[in-house]
Amino acid sequence: MAMIALKCPEIQVVVVDINEARIAAWNSDKLPIYEPGLDEVVKAARGRNLFFSTDVTKHVGEADIVFVSVNTPTKTQGVGAGKAADLTYWEGAARVIASCSTSSKIIVEKSTVPVKTADAIEKVLRRNCKHPGVQFEILSNPEFLAEGTAIEDLTAPDRVLIGGKDTPSGRAAVDALASVYAHWVPRERILCTNLWSAELSKLTANAMLAQRISSVNSISALCEATGADVQQVAKSIGTDSRIGPKFLNASVGFGGSCFQKDILNLVYICESVGLQAVADYWHQVILMNDYQKQRFVEQVISAMFNTISKKKIAVYGFAFKKDTGDTRETPAIDVCRGLMADGARVCVYDPQVEDSQIYQDLGTAKFEWDHPTPKSAPVSKDAISISHDPMEAAKDAHAICVLTEWDEFKAYDYQKVYDSMVKPAFIFDGRNILDHAKLREIGFIVYAVGKPL
Ligand code: UGA
Repeated sequence: MAMIALKCPEIQVVVVDINEARIAAWNSDKLPIYEPGLDEVVKAARGRNLFFSTDVTKHVGEADIVFVSVNTPTKTQGVGAGKAADLTYWEGAARVIASCSTSSKIIVEKSTVPVKTADAIEKVLRRNCKHPGVQFEILSNPEFLAEGTAIEDLTAPDRVLIGGKDTPSGRAAVDALASVYAHWVPRERILCTNLWSAELSKLTANAMLAQRISSVNSISALCEATGADVQQVAKSIGTDSRIGPKFLNASVGFGGSCFQKDILNLVYICESVGLQAVADYWHQVILMNDYQKQRFVEQVISAMFNTISKKKIAVYGFAFKKDTGDTRETPAIDVCRGLMADGARVCVYDPQVEDSQIYQDLGTAKFEWDHPTPKSAPVSKDAISISHDPMEAAKDAHAICVLTEWDEFKAYDYQKVYDSMVKPAFIFDGRNILDHAKLREIGFIVYAVGKPL
């Protein structure tokens, strides 16, 4: 919304939320999320044509276009628990929109939702709006930005996708939204489809992206068993223009609030229409991701002479990727839990994640899947410590596990780190970002994902 406000000065954008603290933060100097470049965009537009408010009824009532960007987490109980998307917030938002609308509106699905959500939402809107003559046109406009590069992605998107009904009013609504993006996105990059294609494209894009990571991660296991180097393999296949070089970095596993949730959602949709083979195919992407995290933990344990009990292990990076403080579904949660379950004393350093978040993530019970993951062990507070200094985190540690690809990890003085550690000193590079030859020269025993020893 900040980007729309920045690029379209004549459009009034009001972001509303019932959470007062959050709106206050958006109106303050310290925004509630860390995202490179976002501060500048918000500051340029805020107070001009970008506003943040808790007065939902007033602003939704006045709007011509309403973007709904509420949470759609995975259901934790009831039918579809563990897979289906929980649409409670979406339905709640639709009821609010219906009750305060005195004029016709375009309703834009920004949240990632299951296919055919628009249908359900339309029913809620139509049956709850008391004002005669008010029409709602629902569009699906999924977001493809990635965290950490949001501003870049929004400034020059590969495409903007708008799905709408193939009726005169549906087409008019699609055109209205397209003209907003056309302020800065070339017309040929604005793709218009039917509603269901747009909804399904979002889930499919994430499933395909995650599948690339699980595919390359599966090969990383084979590389370790054979002496091949996964980075060489990735480069060799990535130069095939049909495959392409992006999203082939082997890692300790993918995380984030989107991939797992969206794939599970896709799996659930397939199951609900009776396509079990299709559901199993996509579910395997998640199973491979869990396997990769578990494999990492097992490698740490076996490399360190099959015992990590009472050993201090420094964890560099807790966020699910660099340049964000977001920890949702971060592989660090399962890895830390796995290490702690084997008795290790884990000391976490992350440049952006708040201490309270780390404690919360490691303390709460993980969703229990029907497949093997490092199970949630009862966590004692002594098993975790948090340091704000990477040198201090590594002091007296037996090993360092790199779990997020923060650039600063590459720049440390590893001789100094080595000197302060217990010997033999291990590094497990779960992101393949460090200079392994140099570390070995210093004296470290280095393990990396899919790389020869
Ligand atoms: C993802 C998609 O990339 C966006 O296009 C989409 O809009 C977004 O989900 C969403 O649905 O909202 P995001 O989760 O922010 O974006 O981050 P990604 O850059 O996709 O990274 C996801 C995870 O995969 C991270 O843990 C990352 O470290 C990992 N990853 C990524 C790898 O392990 N290897 C790679 O080669 C690339």
